Amino acid sequence: MKYTTLLTTLFAVGAMASQCHPQYPCCSGCDVIYTDTDGEWGVENYDWCFIDSNRCHGGGNCSPAFQSQGYQCCSNNNCNIVYQDGTGNWGVENNQWCGLSYNCGNTPTTRTTTRTTTRTTTTTTRRPAQTSDNFFENELYSNFKFQGEVDTSIAKLSGQLQEKAKKVKYVPTAAWLAWEGATNEVPQYLNEAGDKTVVFVLYMIPTRDCNANASVGGSGSLDKYKGYVDNIYNTINRYPNSRIVMILEPDTIGNLVTANNDNCRNVQNMHKQALSYAISKFGTQSNVRVYLDAAHGAWLNSHADRTAQVIAEILRNAGNGKIRGISTNISNYQQVSDEYQYHQNLNRALESQGFRGMKFIVDTSRNGQNVTAAFSRNNTWCNFKGAGLGPRPQANPNPNMPLLDAYMWIKTPGEADGSATGSRADPVCARQDSLQGAPDAGSWFHDYFVMLLQNANPAF
Ligand SMILES: *[C@@H]1O[C@H](CO)[C@@H](O)[C@H](O)[C@H]1NC(C)=O
Ligand SMILES: *[C@@H]1O[C@H](CO)[C@@H](O)[C@H](O)[C@H]1NC(C)=O
Ligand SMILES: *[C@@H]1O[C@H](CO)[C@@H](O)[C@H](O)[C@H]1NC(C)=O
Ligand SMILES: *[C@@H]1O[C@H](CO)[C@@H](O)[C@H](O)[C@H]1NC(C)=O
Repeated sequence: MKYTTLLTTLFAVGAMASQCHPQYPCCSGCDVIYTDTDGEWGVENYDWCFIDSNRCHGGGNCSPAFQSQGYQCCSNNNCNIVYQDGTGNWGVENNQWCGLSYNCGNTPTTRTTTRTTTRTTTTTTRRPAQTSDNFFENELYSNFKFQGEVDTSIAKLSGQLQEKAKKVKYVPTAAWLAWEGATNEVPQYLNEAGDKTVVFVLYMIPTRDCNANASVGGSGSLDKYKGYVDNIYNTINRYPNSRIVMILEPDTIGNLVTANNDNCRNVQNMHKQALSYAISKFGTQSNVRVYLDAAHGAWLNSHADRTAQVIAEILRNAGNGKIRGISTNISNYQQVSDEYQYHQNLNRALESQGFRGMKFIVDTSRNGQNVTAAFSRNNTWCNFKGAGLGPRPQANPNPNMPLLDAYMWIKTPGEADGSATGSRADPVCARQDSLQGAPDAGSWFHDYFVMLLQNANPAF
């Protein structure tokens, strides 16, 4: 810190170690007079004191270098080092990276490990936007949240399985925008990704998951949903050099086509309007490629014509918004060859509606094992036993499948599909062929991750 501007006569009174700083006392107030690489400083009793960020900012006391990258301090009692780099020691809390507190001895270090995570790739140099329309041909961003989740499993594993988990950690996965606060995470993802392609999944439609209970939620109303979309749209406008894939609303088309309960039927018009609105915004941004989700072949292949009609109606009401294509098999376990049949059927049906040139992406996060026979018995979509991590994300994966833009890990493999207990309990998650012990949908399910890892194909 700099002493020059303060009453230097008082400097000698100085140093006193505290929980806030190795040499200075904690401030009793929160007024920041000065900020340097150590952190935030105040002045009290005519001397420097160190701002107690635990009290003032609700976090631990860590270097502002973490905060300037958009991360919070870990809580003071968390000294569990998950990662080290030039910024210091990193921990993970609530599936987020956080900076470990000074009281863990976390003074800035020199680079201590070879660094392959995405955080350091946040650079100011950016390549100009690429020319290919298939953004999966670009390097894909590896999601910090997934890394943090896998880290919690790495800590519980040992031996070969642990080594494998360390590799899985860096596989690119989609970032889900599925709760109110997620709009605030968009800048963080875009900053971290730099010129890599970020794949977002928008999953916030009102009365989400109207046909089941595991993932109920979403925006409170269509207007709130529009606000959510606008917020993300405006953020993206501030990152014109980013390359973004936006996958829209898994399950919604499936429910629009086959909804057989009032809960879904009552919201059909609203769901169509919501999708049209999202496409009218993201589908006009030159650095965004939109893929509308269309469930999976086992669900909709026999309804391909009806599916194409619904999609066509949504696109016609989307103003100037365009989609690049369709995503399928999100969170499911279908084999690519089966999905591709669905892609071909749906493509033909869309062509007859006047929508040509659609591309497809398929979620391969959990389809490494062919569980089709067992799965089709009960369609247990929740934490299905026997599944394995599938093919790694890849652009244009198969020359025999020219409609395919990419394999992508869209579902975050290892996050639960739902739980058999609690307020969001879903009976499907209580079945024999669903792995038991799951937390709520979206939370990390270590046992399921281990199963997916053991069954991975290709293996890690
Ligand atoms: C969801 O929960 C509601 C109320 O708790 C219940 O009536 C309904 O049957 C559940 N739906 C499913 C698909 O389990
Ligand atoms: C999609 O999921 C189903 C299982 O529901 C699976 O049979 C199919 O192969 C998957 N498709 C792709 C392309 O992964
Ligand atoms: C997956 O299993 C099903 C049922 O056993 C079989 O019909 C199908 O051909 C298999 N698919 C692949 C890609 O192996
Ligand atoms: C499939 O569902 C049937 C009827 O709901 C049930 O009796 C059977 O145990 C289920 N199979 C598995 C493997 O859970």
